[in-house]
Amino acid sequence: MKLLVNIDHVATLRNARGEGYPDPIEAARICEEAGAAGIVFHLRGDRRHIRDEDVYRLKEHVRGKLDFEMAASEEMIDICVEVDPHLCTLVPEGREELTTEGGLDMEAVYEDYEKRVFPKIRKTDIEISLFLDPNLRDIELAHQLGTDAIELHTGTFANAEASKKQHELTRLRKAANLANDLGMKVNAGHGLNLDNLPDLLETIPVLNEVSIGHALISKSLFWGLDKTVKTYTEIIKDYSG
Ligand code: PXP
Repeated sequence: MKLLVNIDHVATLRNARGEGYPDPIEAARICEEAGAAGIVFHLRGDRRHIRDEDVYRLKEHVRGKLDFEMAASEEMIDICVEVDPHLCTLVPEGREELTTEGGLDMEAVYEDYEKRVFPKIRKTDIEISLFLDPNLRDIELAHQLGTDAIELHTGTFANAEASKKQHELTRLRKAANLANDLGMKVNAGHGLNLDNLPDLLETIPVLNEVSIGHALISKSLFWGLDKTVKTYTEIIKDYSG
């Protein structure tokens, strides 16, 4: 099980003042040196955090896995194919949302993904991951589409009140097990932090990668990025094998 750090909010802080710092590429370097297996970024249509030039610099400097999170627009597909990351994680994207609000509705996107999105990305050797809520039907459709991986949306679990956490964990476990049985890699992300990560890792041993951004970058303001990433990787190591 591996940690991928989402560095979008380093760019958010940089953009707040229009200066060149903090630099997301410098953050990525520190994360990798502290033990992260790779870096995730979300290039949004409105470029509110990561910008095009960041993407090309990340491609040049990231040594581990590079996960390009994006909406399946023609513009993003073209950039992704040109940049050639290891992984492309497809997410729904709403203009007004503060962050990705849920997984893809597979019934709704299936035909478009089958006819337009997958054929374009499949011309490369970029692996495709679909960001999904823990719905078994969505997992089956993702498999039917021939995706390499899914990323389970953990936001509902992360935000659930204490009495509902177990229910959400059970949903995530069932979805993860189905995806794993169908031969897809199982990743997870959204809303994960030092408090809720152990429960998730304990419940879902088939997890391949977790993608963590906001809580990790926030904690690093007080602890430093190096110590924060090391703390997360120690937790993950405890639950791996
Ligand atoms: N995975 C996906 C698909 C996301 O959209 C996000 C948020 O950008 C994350 C993981 C990371 O979520 P968080 O910032 O809450 O850790």
